[in-house]
Amino acid sequence: MAWVVAEVVEETAGQWFERDLSLRAQLVAASSRASLAANWDTERKAELERQLIEIARDERVMAVAACSPQGALLADTPQFPEALSCREIGLRAKSEQSSSATLMRAWSTVSRLPGGSIHVSAIPLWDGGRGQIGFLLLLQDMSYAERREELTRVFLVVGFAVLGLLASVFTIFVARFTRRSWSAELRNMLRHGAQTRPEFQPILRDVRELIEKVMAEREDAPGVWTAERLKQTLGRHLQGERIIILANREPYVHERMTDGEVRVLHPASGLVTALEPVMRACSGVWVAHGSGSADRDRVDRYDRVRVPPGEESYHIRRVWLTREEESGYYYGFSNEGLWPLCHLAHARPVFREEDWAYYRKINERFADAVCAEVDSDDPIILVQDYHFALVPALIRGRLPAATVIMFWHIPWPNSEQVGICPWRQEILEGLLGSSILGFHTQFHCNNFMESVDRYLEARIDREQQGVARRGHHTLVRPYPISLEWPVRWLSDAPSADECRRRVWEDLNLKPDALLGVGVDRLDYTKGIEERLLAVERLLERFPEFRGRFSFVQVAAPSRTKIERYRQLNEAVEQLSSRINERFGGEEYQPIILLRTHHEPPDVFKFYRAAHLCYVSSLHDGMNLVAKEFVAARDDQQGVLVLSQFTGAARELTEALIVNPYDLEKVSTALACALSMPVAEQRVRMRSMRSLVAHFNVYRWAGEMLVDAARVRSRERLAGQLTESPEVSVGG
Ligand code: G6P
Repeated sequence: MAWVVAEVVEETAGQWFERDLSLRAQLVAASSRASLAANWDTERKAELERQLIEIARDERVMAVAACSPQGALLADTPQFPEALSCREIGLRAKSEQSSSATLMRAWSTVSRLPGGSIHVSAIPLWDGGRGQIGFLLLLQDMSYAERREELTRVFLVVGFAVLGLLASVFTIFVARFTRRSWSAELRNMLRHGAQTRPEFQPILRDVRELIEKVMAEREDAPGVWTAERLKQTLGRHLQGERIIILANREPYVHERMTDGEVRVLHPASGLVTALEPVMRACSGVWVAHGSGSADRDRVDRYDRVRVPPGEESYHIRRVWLTREEESGYYYGFSNEGLWPLCHLAHARPVFREEDWAYYRKINERFADAVCAEVDSDDPIILVQDYHFALVPALIRGRLPAATVIMFWHIPWPNSEQVGICPWRQEILEGLLGSSILGFHTQFHCNNFMESVDRYLEARIDREQQGVARRGHHTLVRPYPISLEWPVRWLSDAPSADECRRRVWEDLNLKPDALLGVGVDRLDYTKGIEERLLAVERLLERFPEFRGRFSFVQVAAPSRTKIERYRQLNEAVEQLSSRINERFGGEEYQPIILLRTHHEPPDVFKFYRAAHLCYVSSLHDGMNLVAKEFVAARDDQQGVLVLSQFTGAARELTEALIVNPYDLEKVSTALACALSMPVAEQRVRMRSMRSLVAHFNVYRWAGEMLVDAARVRSRERLAGQLTESPEVSVGG
C-alpha cells in the first residue's frame, strides 16, 4: 500500500518538478533576452559565450547553448554535453510542435545521460524587427529532484509504517479495553446471576454452558497431565476446599535413630510413592497412622504436622493406635486376613474375631478423624486401600452428601476367594458407601462386581459400570495408578554413568560386571525367592554369566511382626547364601542382598546403574517399582523383566513379560536382557517411558476427580428434582 501511494506521489511530484524547471528556464531566458539578442551573432561569439557562462552560474543550470533557428550551434558553455546538439533538439521540439521551420514555443524534455537525468529546455528568442533569432538550450540538473523523490519515498514508507503501527496499537488498546470491560461485566453477571437483568439471562445461560463444555473438554483433553493441571481441576471441583486423603501409611515418618537424632524417612510403599505428589499438588490433609517413634514429638496440639519438610504445603493428621490396636487392625485383620485373601501368593488368610473387632473400631476412629478435618457438608474424600474397607460407609453415615473416592491398591480376588472372609458382606457393604470405587484393572472391577452379585442384594449396572444398593449408586472403574512425572528424585540425580561408577565401587564389582536389580518390601507376594532361583538357573544354564552377573536385591524389611514375613526373611537369606556358595567366590557374589531401608535417592542410583531390573511379583495390583525403573532410565538403556501377574504388565508391554514360576523361561529372559543390543533397549525403553510420562499419577487422580465431579452434579440434579414440588419425574 505504502509503495503504491509512494509511486503516485512520486509521479505527481515529478511532473511538478519538470514544470517548475521549464518555468525557471523561461524566466532565465527572458531576463537575459536583451543582452543575449545584442550579442546573438557569430561575430560576437566570445561575448555570447561569456554571457552563457554567466547564465550557467545559477547552481541548478548545468550548461547553456545558443542555437540558430535552423539548429546550428552559435556558442555554448564548456560543460555542454556532446551527446546533446542544437540540431537534434531543435528537430525534436519542432516536430512535436508540428512546425518545420521555427520553434514556436518553449519546449522541454528530460534526457537520461550516463551521469544522471538532465532537464533540457529549448526557448525561442525573438528580437524586434529581426524576428526569431534562434533558441536557447538550457540544461538543468535533475539529480536534486531525484534525491528529493527518493527522500519523499522513504518518508512515505516510514510514515505509513509508523501510522500502521499506531493504528494497530490503538486498535489493540481499544479491543482490550472493550473486551476487559465486557468480560468484567460478564464475570460480574456470572457471579451474581440471580440479580442479572432478565434480558441477559439467555446469554448468561449460553456462556455458562460454553464454559462447562470447554472445561470438560480440557479435562478430557489428551495432553499430558501435570501437577498444575491437577490443581486447576481440583480448584474447579472443590471450589477452594481442602482435599482429604485417608491412608494408613503416612508419607513422612519421624523416626528416632539409635544416636537419639530424629530423621524423616520416606516409607517403602507404592501407595505413598503415588499419592504424595498428588497431595503436594493439591494441599489439604493426609490422615494416617502416626507410626514413627518420634511422630508424637513433631505434631501440634491437633496432632498435625506440616510437610514436606522445608517446603510445607499440606498437613499430616496423625491418628494414634495402641500396640494392641495396631496388632489387631493392621497386622491382624489387614495383613494376615485381607492381604493374603486378595493376593494369590499361597499364604493362607487368617481371620480372627478379635482382629475384626479392632478393624471395625479403628475404621471408626479414622472415619471420625476424617470427618473432623472436613470444612463442608459435601467434601471430596479419597480413602485408600484395604485397611479402610468400612470407612466409605461410615463417612456416608456421617456426611451423606460427601463424595467418597475409594481406591483399592491391591488385587480384588474372584468371588470364591472372597467367600473365605467371614465378614465379606460387611466389607462389601462398607466399600459400597463410596461414590467411586477404583481398582487398577478392569479384571479386578469384574471380580468385585461378581462378589457383590454373589454375596449382596444389589443391582449391578454393567453398562454404567456401577452398583446400586438402597438408593445409593457406586461407580466401579479401573484407574491404573502411576508415578509423578517427572520423578522428583531424578531432578538432581547423578548421571547414569556416575551412578554406575558409585554402585560398582560400593558393591566392589569388576569393571566388566553385569548387574541386575530388584527393589521390594520383603513380602511373599513379590516372588523374591522365585527371583533368586531364576538367577541361579541363569548361572546354571549360561556359564558365560558366572563370575560376571550379580543381582542386587534391595529389600526393605516389612511387617516383621507377622510370622510369614519372618519366614520369608530367613528363606531369602538362606537362598542367597546357598547361591553365593555355589557360584560365588572371594571376589564375586552372584546375589547381593541389602536388607535395610533405602531412601529414594539410593534406590534410584541402583535403577540407573543396573543393566536389568527384574520384578517377579506372584500377584500385584500394579507394582510401581517397574514404572520407577522405567522413569529412572533417561539414558534409555536397561531392560525390564516383568511378571505377567502385575497390573503393570498390562501397560508396559515392551518389557520382557515372564511367568515368575517358570524358571526356565525367566532364565532365558534374563540372558536375553543381558545380551540385548543397545538399539533394541532404546526402542523398548523409549516406548515405555512415553507411556509412563503420559499416564502419570496426576492423570490418575485427575480422572477420578473428573468422574467424581460428574457424580456430584448428577446427585445434585437428582436432589433438586426430588426437592422441587413443581417438577415431576417421568411425567
Ligand atoms: C502396599 C499396600 C499399601 C502399603 C504398602 C506398604 O503397597 O497397598 O497400602 O502402604 O504396601 O506396606 P505397609 O504395610 O508398610 O504400609
